[in-house]
Amino acid sequence: MSKIYLTTAIPYVNGAPHIGHAMDYIIADTCSRYHQICGDEVRLQAGTDEHGNKIFRKATESNMPVEDYVDENAAKFRDFIKKLDVEYTDYIRTTDADHMKRCQEIWRKIKDHIYSATYGGWYCVGCESYVTQKEYDENGGICPDHQKPYEHLEEENYYFRISDFKDEIRAKIESDEIQILPEFRKKEMLKMLEDAPDVSISRPTSQLTWGVPVPDDPNQTMYVWIDALSNYITVLGYPEKPIDEWWPATAQFVGKDILRFHAIIWPAMLLALGLPLPKVLCSHGFILADGQKMSKSIGNVIDPIEVLEKHGADAFRYYFLRHVDTFTDGDFTWEKYESAYNTELANDYGNLVQRLATMLMKNNIATAALKPKELDETYRNFMNNFEFAKAFDYAWEKVQGINKRIDDEKPWMLAKAGETEKLGQVLSSLTQELKDVNLMLSPFLPSAAKKVADIFDAETVTPPAEPLFKKD
Ligand code: MSP
Repeated sequence: MSKIYLTTAIPYVNGAPHIGHAMDYIIADTCSRYHQICGDEVRLQAGTDEHGNKIFRKATESNMPVEDYVDENAAKFRDFIKKLDVEYTDYIRTTDADHMKRCQEIWRKIKDHIYSATYGGWYCVGCESYVTQKEYDENGGICPDHQKPYEHLEEENYYFRISDFKDEIRAKIESDEIQILPEFRKKEMLKMLEDAPDVSISRPTSQLTWGVPVPDDPNQTMYVWIDALSNYITVLGYPEKPIDEWWPATAQFVGKDILRFHAIIWPAMLLALGLPLPKVLCSHGFILADGQKMSKSIGNVIDPIEVLEKHGADAFRYYFLRHVDTFTDGDFTWEKYESAYNTELANDYGNLVQRLATMLMKNNIATAALKPKELDETYRNFMNNFEFAKAFDYAWEKVQGINKRIDDEKPWMLAKAGETEKLGQVLSSLTQELKDVNLMLSPFLPSAAKKVADIFDAETVTPPAEPLFKKD
C-alpha cells in the first residue's frame, strides 16, 4: 500500500465553471479511484484561486463586495465538482486565512531568492493593466477600450530569481526526477526553461489590493503565482505541519496552458524551500467546441451544467475521459455526445447489463459468489502511465467482447434446448467477465459501476427496473 497525493489546478473564480475546468477534476478523480482499488491511501486536493485584479474588477462590475462575489462563484465550483462525482479529500480557497498566513511564511522562507526592482511600461488606467510595447504601437498609444492614452508607469516589484535554480530544474526534468507528461511537452518545457526570465511576484498595493500582503512590506501585494502555487502544500498544512508523508505529490494535473508555471516557477519555489519536486506533472489538452476555441464572442461556449444535467455524471465522464485523449486537445459537439451516449454507453454497456441480468433471473442463477479478478496488467500499465483514455478504450473492448460472446454463444438457445448445466456455465462465465471489466470501469464511471456491482453481487439477480442509461 502506498500513499498517493494528487492535485488539480485551482480555477479562477471570475465566472462560473466552464467545460474545460472539468478535465483536471475528472482525470484526477479517476486516478484517485484507481489507486483506491489498488489498496493505496489517497489524498486528492481541489479548490479555487480567488485573488487578483481580474476578479476584483468583475466583482465591481457586478456591484458586489469582492468577498461576496468570490463566495458566490466558489460555491458554483464546489457544486460543479460534486455534480461531476469527484471525491476530494482536501479543499482549499486561496482566500482562506490559513492559506494566506502560510503563503506569507513561504515568502519569508524563499526570501534569499527575492529582490526588488523597478518595472517600467505602458499602462492603461481603465484596464488597470500594463500593455506590451507591441500593443502600444498597434493601438497608436491609445487604449481602444477606454479611448485614453496609455501612461508610462514605473513601479517597484519584487522578483523571484528563477536563474538560481535553472540548472537544477533542467537536470531534474531531463532525468525524469520530475516527469513531465506527455513527452512532447517535456521538450517544450526544457526549451522554455532556457529563456525563462526572473518572475515578477508582487505589485504595489496601490495597483493591487485583492491579494496576500507581502510580509514586512505594507506597500506590496503578492501577485498570483506564489499565492496560487503554494496551495498544493498549504492545503497539507505546510509549513506548520510536516508534509513528508504526502509530499512529493504522486501527480499534479494541469492544463497545457499553465504547465510552464508548474514546470518552472513551482519547482524553483520548492527547491528554494528545500522540498522535493512532484513526481509527475501531467498536462491535458483543451476542449474545443466543434473544432474551435470556445469564446463568448463566437457564441459557442458549452455550458457544462447543461451537459451534466442531460445524462448525468457518468455520461459526462464517459465522453471526456474516453473520447478526449488524455494528453491532447479534444472536441465536443452535442451530436458526438449524444451518439457516444446512445450507441456506446446505453447499448454496449447498459443493454449488456440488462440482458445478462434478465437471463440470470429467468434461469435462477446466482452470481454473488463470483468475485472480480485482479486488474489485468495491460490495464494497470495504462493507468500507471496516466494513459486514461487508452485504459478506458481497453476496458471498452472487453465490454464489446462480452456482447460478442453472447451473440456467438446464444445462451437462450441453450435454455430452449434444456441444457441447464451448460447454460449455467456460460452465464456464470459471462458474468465473471462482466464483473472483471466493471471493476476496470469503476474509476471512470463510479455510479454506474456501483449499480452493476450491486445487481450481480445480490443473492438473487434482478435486472434494473430502469435501464442503466435511459435513451431519449
Ligand atoms: N488559477 C489558475 C491555475 C492555478 S493552479 C495553481 C488558472 N485558472 S483557470 O481557471 O484559467 O484554469 C483552470 C484549469 O482549467 C487549468 O488547468 C486550465 O488549463 C484548465 N482549462 C481552462 N480552459 C480549458 C479548456 N478549454 N479545456 C481544457 N482545460 C482548460 O489557470
